[in-house]
Amino acid sequence: MSDVVSSAGEPVVITVRKNGSFGVVGNVRLVDHEGNEIPRINDKPTIALCRCGHSARKPFCDGAHKAAGFIDPPDAAESTGAHAPA
Ligand code: FES
Repeated sequence: MSDVVSSAGEPVVITVRKNGSFGVVGNVRLVDHEGNEIPRINDKPTIALCRCGHSARKPFCDGAHKAAGFIDPPDAAESTGAHAPA
């Protein structure tokens, strides 16, 4: 499997933040369902994408997950006890 890489050649990193957004680092294009570019809202190198559904400015996170009390669902491995041994 190959890494997804940005146009600058650096791997794009997507972090599932604990009880929060997806943090996307890298030179990515964000587009809607028709392929139209969604402009970034700032010049920061990281994009925070909402995964709780409560943001007023989707697809971006606006911090509403905190007031909504969004909590990560348990991951499958955690709920089944199927974590690989270290
Ligand atoms: S993840 Fe932050 S508002 Fe939804």
